[in-house]
Amino acid sequence: MIKGVDDIAGLVISQASLEDLDELEALERRAFSVPWSRKAFEAELSGNEFSLILIARYAGASPHVAGKPLNERPRVVGYICAWTVFEELRFMNIAVEADMRRRGIGSELLKKIMEIGISHGTQRALLEVRKSNDSAQALYARFGFTSYGARRDYYTNPTEDAMLMSLEPLTLSRTII
Ligand SMILES: CC(C)(COP(=O)(O)OP(=O)(O)OC[C@H]1O[C@@H](n2cnc3c(N)ncnc32)[C@H](O)[C@@H]1OP(=O)(O)O)[C@@H](O)C(=O)NCCC(=O)NCCS
Repeated sequence: MIKGVDDIAGLVISQASLEDLDELEALERRAFSVPWSRKAFEAELSGNEFSLILIARYAGASPHVAGKPLNERPRVVGYICAWTVFEELRFMNIAVEADMRRRGIGSELLKKIMEIGISHGTQRALLEVRKSNDSAQALYARFGFTSYGARRDYYTNPTEDAMLMSLEPLTLSRTII
């Protein structure tokens, strides 16, 4: 079984809103050499009917013990963005804070957005990933995604090909659930 929220006490996943912009932008800048701009996030959150962004907030197992006031909002430690376009679920981006990786948060975000896609009747999922991004490819492979091609020089800084991956039919395998 892939690790899930049960392994991460204090993790809450919800739909992002414009109130989350500051934290999303900050996380994005830490995670990518070519980060999405604030305007790009705004467009996803308010101007794109196809787009859905989920965020994971982590309070820690005992936030008060960690010295944080109880009324402080838990920090955003990850997000995922996908478009539901008719029968397709198109993954646009995913990131988890470096100090919170390999704890199942990326998997949980992926699982939740796939569940939503499935509930909307999407049949397949598509994504692009840097050829050198072994960790993201490994994550997608665990969900059953396979490579179906490449897109030359798709990424900048550094210039790099994209690996194209898909999952069809769109299902959550038993090992994931
Ligand atoms: C890709 C990313 C979102 C994964 O998030 P995560 O929370 O660490 O993922 P999970 O803990 O759910 O990992 C699930 C599985 O994916 C694979 N995986 C994840 N990171 C890996 C790594 N660094 N090396 C090898 N396998 C890895 C493993 O199979 C892992 O399961 P395991 O920990 O039981 O071995 C995270 O590494 C990240 O934010 N990277 C920077 C941004 C990025 O590259 N985004 C992808 C854009 S396409």
